[in-house]
Amino acid sequence: MPTNSAAELASHWWEGSVIYELIPRCFADGNGDGIGDLDGLKQRLDYLHWLGVDAVWMTPICDSPLRDGGYDITDYKSVHPDLGDLQALDTLIRHAHELGLKVLFDLVLNHTSDMHLWFQRARWAERGSPERNFYVWRDDDKSYSEAPVLFRHFEDSNWQWDPVAGQYYLHRFLRHQPDLNYDNPQVQEAMLDVLDFWIDRGIDGFRLDAIPFLFEREGTRCEGLPETHAFLRRLRSRAKERCEQLGREEVLLLAEAIQPVHEAMPYVADDELHSAFNFALTAHLFAAVAHGEVSALQTFLSEFRQLNAGCRWALPLRNHDELWLGDGHLVPEEIVDRVREGFPNAEGHWLNWGINRRLSPLLNGDPRPNKALHALLYSLPGMPCIYYGDELGMGDYPGLRDRDANRTPMAWTSERNGGFSKAPDPLLVLPPITRPGYNCQMMNVAVQKSLQGSLLNWHRHTLLSRRLLPALRHGDFQLLENSHPGVISYIRQSEEMTILVAVNLSGNPASTRLDLSAWQGQQVREVLGGCPFPVASEHWFAYLSAYDYCWWLIGDVEPESSSNSDAIADSLAVSC
Ligand code: BGC
Repeated sequence: MPTNSAAELASHWWEGSVIYELIPRCFADGNGDGIGDLDGLKQRLDYLHWLGVDAVWMTPICDSPLRDGGYDITDYKSVHPDLGDLQALDTLIRHAHELGLKVLFDLVLNHTSDMHLWFQRARWAERGSPERNFYVWRDDDKSYSEAPVLFRHFEDSNWQWDPVAGQYYLHRFLRHQPDLNYDNPQVQEAMLDVLDFWIDRGIDGFRLDAIPFLFEREGTRCEGLPETHAFLRRLRSRAKERCEQLGREEVLLLAEAIQPVHEAMPYVADDELHSAFNFALTAHLFAAVAHGEVSALQTFLSEFRQLNAGCRWALPLRNHDELWLGDGHLVPEEIVDRVREGFPNAEGHWLNWGINRRLSPLLNGDPRPNKALHALLYSLPGMPCIYYGDELGMGDYPGLRDRDANRTPMAWTSERNGGFSKAPDPLLVLPPITRPGYNCQMMNVAVQKSLQGSLLNWHRHTLLSRRLLPALRHGDFQLLENSHPGVISYIRQSEEMTILVAVNLSGNPASTRLDLSAWQGQQVREVLGGCPFPVASEHWFAYLSAYDYCWWLIGDVEPESSSNSDAIADSLAVSC
């Protein structure tokens, strides 16, 4: 497997960057119509800067009938009128860049809305015509029978009869999302043209939605076929060329491929995409915290290390979808069972192949495992991805349609609607959370900013200290054995420094022995407070309370600034 050279990786802004995912229509309402928009988001960029993330990923913003959260597009070169227009996007990008933030969004390559002009044209066009061939048609629904139905709670087949066309069309997702036919060169060219359009507009990168499914071949699961990889290589070289022509740095191409690691790896080959989400790691993290036991996670991480994928993984905990665990293909069934058994709060919330809940309610509102999981995410090699609201421990709204339970408005203040919008309640895009324990009047940015020990302030301090620890962004990764079954420990090492990480994923206190003989006699200090620990030795002991974690510096190096957390924040001179 070819890998990007260290020099090439180091030259990209995204290496080790922290990505913040948000849904623009649920984040902040700038014009008071009850729907979040680009102007509202622009006004809240200061918050994201203050929090300490590097990039903002917006779920789709193009025009759409919104039958799948905007992943059903009718015009690839537009902004949905609810959100603003192209000028509003330009302003947003400019403002973000002034703050040093990058802007990413979703590029939905696999399918369109059935309301897209291309599809309407296809169904009325002659059989076999280039227009009809923009999509995948058959006279029966028997083809590609090995391709699983992904949205199995909504669909029972990947084919839908179209009375106008007199044929069935393929849809790997919902029936109103027909799959584009990548065997048609015109489709490939049309989508590359869309890519050019957004690069020209100044977007810094793309999350490439559902890319394993671009091509289909009989007798396969129709995932990650060689033809799909060939097209993605074309897309990469087109993006690179376009950026070179414009004299701008390359855009990030980030794959959404919910596949086991060995199947996701080829997407991040040298000449293909830059990064891919590591959903298998996500499943392992949840399984480990569910049972307070890390052996499967440890095995997974050591295999993952051998794959030498460096920092090229994007690391999500939760996102706008269900917590996808799959049918035994993504991770072994015992890992799925562990999650199923370990989270009583997941019961009754399974959707398709995963759990349709936000992080905090899954963790029973306990901020400690939230911190433990994020402490891992922020210190493993790759790009940590935060889902909006998880930095507050925001709740969800079970009972809402499809995945809307996880997509409710961001809670900003204790004002009406959690400060999300000034519109009357019936106009709100989705209801704000009012459930006890998660009520947006109490659990919001303003309240948590004012409480020193809040989860939000913990995330900020941890992210800011990460910035001062280059080893966490681009250092080597080496698992380190320890004697406790609930504790995972590893070393991140760069030219500048050596960091030791230990995280207790169990709900009980843990005392554990680590073999630090490789650093025999060197100083060990806790990173945030600078508190000295006993010098490194073969029998080095750490004590971690339930779900506790610690990052230590080994050796004499100072972090780039002071070792005190408040001073770290001050040194970055970011305020809101
Ligand atoms: C997105 C989903 C969407 C699906 C179809 C996914 O992978 O994350 O939200 O429903 O693609 O576009």
